[in-house]
Amino acid sequence: MSKTHPFIPYHPERFSESEMMHRAESFFQLMNKRRTVREFSDDPVPMELIRKLIMTASTAPSGANKQPWTFCIITNPELKQQIRLAAEKEEKRNYEERMSKRWLEDLEHLETDWQKAFLEEAPCLVAVFKRVYELEESEEKHNNYYVSESVGLATGLFIAAIHQAGLSSLTYTPSPMNFLSKLLKRPDNERPYLLIPIGYPAANAMIPDQPRISEEKVIFSYA
Ligand SMILES: Cc1cc2nc3c(=O)[nH]c(=O)nc-3n(C[C@H](O)[C@H](O)[C@H](O)COP(=O)(O)O)c2cc1C
Repeated sequence: MSKTHPFIPYHPERFSESEMMHRAESFFQLMNKRRTVREFSDDPVPMELIRKLIMTASTAPSGANKQPWTFCIITNPELKQQIRLAAEKEEKRNYEERMSKRWLEDLEHLETDWQKAFLEEAPCLVAVFKRVYELEESEEKHNNYYVSESVGLATGLFIAAIHQAGLSSLTYTPSPMNFLSKLLKRPDNERPYLLIPIGYPAANAMIPDQPRISEEKVIFSYA
């Protein structure tokens, strides 16, 4: 079929059904071992690896292919300390004043509190920003499309890639998060989306024993 714009052929490899099942089962087994870690070792992680994991995240689909994401890698100890202090200031207010009783109850089993030592302990923090608009040369603002969905998909791929490479991460959402824009001097069209400490779990790391939702509750079939 003739096209007006540039198109290229696309022929991904096809597998037999049993090979697909085998591949899907292995990927499920791998991903099912992923857990959120809140206690990190300070062992360094290779920067080249982090950059590759980010570029994997950046293969995600996005609304109108705007790829509206920016990933900032933070390893500088002073900056990590500033981020921790700013996050803990907000978190203290969250835990002591702003979070509802119900919310605190829902968090109880995680045994988290306002103190966020992982922000200094993890060797690497990645701050994910969503680009809500692009600034054209004419200074005109062009809004991007489905920005949160797109950046969520990229972050999901990022977390999967981190785990697949053999590292652990925490999906962290300090609230409000605008201190990240200031500390990292990000432009106005970028909004903080998530902060992801990455590294190896501490030797004595513990994780909450929580179940995954069952297949019956997740899947509804309309054959
Ligand atoms: C959008 C989002 C925000 C989260 N925010 C926090 C957070 O601020 N602090 C935290 O300790 N964990 C946070 N988590 C981690 C969840 O608590 C964790 O994913 C959940 O308990 C399931 O555990 P698992 O990731 O080990 O399967 C967040 C996860 C998501 C997806």
